[in-house]
Amino acid sequence: MSYHDELVAALKDFPSGRIGPLSGTVGWTCPSNIAIVKYWGKRPVQIPMNPSLSITLDKAVTETRVDYSIDPGRKETGLSFFFEKKPAPDFEARILKVLTAVTAYLPFLKQAELTVHSRNSFPHSSGIASSASAMGALALCLCEMEEQILKQAPERKTNQETKKILKQVQDGRSSLKDEEWFFRKASFIARLGSGSASRSVYGNMALWGESKEWAGSSNEYAIPVIPVHRNLGAIRDTILIVESGAKKVSSSAGHALMQNNPFAEVRFRQAGTNLSLLKEYIASGDWKGFIEILETEALTLHAMMMTGRPGYLLMQPESLKIISLVREYRNGTGHRVGFTLDAGANVHLIYAEEDAKEIDAFIGSDLRAYCENGYFISDRMGNGPSRTGTDARKI
Ligand code: PMV
Repeated sequence: MSYHDELVAALKDFPSGRIGPLSGTVGWTCPSNIAIVKYWGKRPVQIPMNPSLSITLDKAVTETRVDYSIDPGRKETGLSFFFEKKPAPDFEARILKVLTAVTAYLPFLKQAELTVHSRNSFPHSSGIASSASAMGALALCLCEMEEQILKQAPERKTNQETKKILKQVQDGRSSLKDEEWFFRKASFIARLGSGSASRSVYGNMALWGESKEWAGSSNEYAIPVIPVHRNLGAIRDTILIVESGAKKVSSSAGHALMQNNPFAEVRFRQAGTNLSLLKEYIASGDWKGFIEILETEALTLHAMMMTGRPGYLLMQPESLKIISLVREYRNGTGHRVGFTLDAGANVHLIYAEEDAKEIDAFIGSDLRAYCENGYFISDRMGNGPSRTGTDARKI
């Protein structure tokens, strides 16, 4: 049974039309992530062509608050969206589409009027994937709304699974199983907003996409990568901003171009091989192997962009300069540092916390000159999302 079927079956008797009126507020903070093995290429609906694995960031987060009211008389979702306190009609339209797409799994949305406030801790267009943190935070809020609604809803007829969840929620129990259910569903919902967002609901490292070698992996949701060897337990990510500004090519357009890319099949197989190798390196704490995969994946992602039709080039001369300086520095010092790229010109330096003092000095002395206005963002691997609860009122 697919997870989609499982969710639909669990909610078959969700009491639409019989809940409410009720209202409440939920809030979550969710980090962005940077992929080591990249997701590039998908098929409907948001199913990745290969599995991907990422590091969840710490400081680069989206904070989202949803004020909701459920009115049994409503027939469709109402939404007002504010980004950094201002109405944001473009985001609003995108989010409304996502809400429509996930209503099958969160049926109360049809009767919901939502006011969503969101803000990012990092500057817009800094090359940090804001869709991952934004869709992650939204999905977590929606799943928490579901919990609150189940708690407040009056007596009703439910199927067995819903009854079970309701009982657990009403008992106030937060067993490991409930947590697993909650985050799995949030990851599934986040995926429908933005594929890479499915990985952001877990801390440290997360894997999305089916891999024979990874028990419990799925194309429908991400899973946490456990255990991570202590050598890789503290990872820095400094994002060198070569070019700020909006993405030149949207990721949906990029994914679509993979359909006719002559190297696509080889690439999808390569991602599987890289993931197997990475699994070993994560288990044994092998930084050298980890960096090899990190860099080859970054360059393959960009190679795929260059070889599509039409092809496009997102790296800038400064990106290439930084890459060669990083490789020279590593060869000269033996420090554990490598680079990766997202779909843009900015370079993510990934390095061991233990070597951070020297590498930070190297960034200041040699790399900063290649950043736009000398700008970079210091981040690290983090513990994942957190409930902001009543603090969310401040957003
Ligand atoms: O989640 P999307 O559709 O924005 O795609 C993200 C793709 C990359 O960021 C380039 C790679 C990844 O796996 O995060």
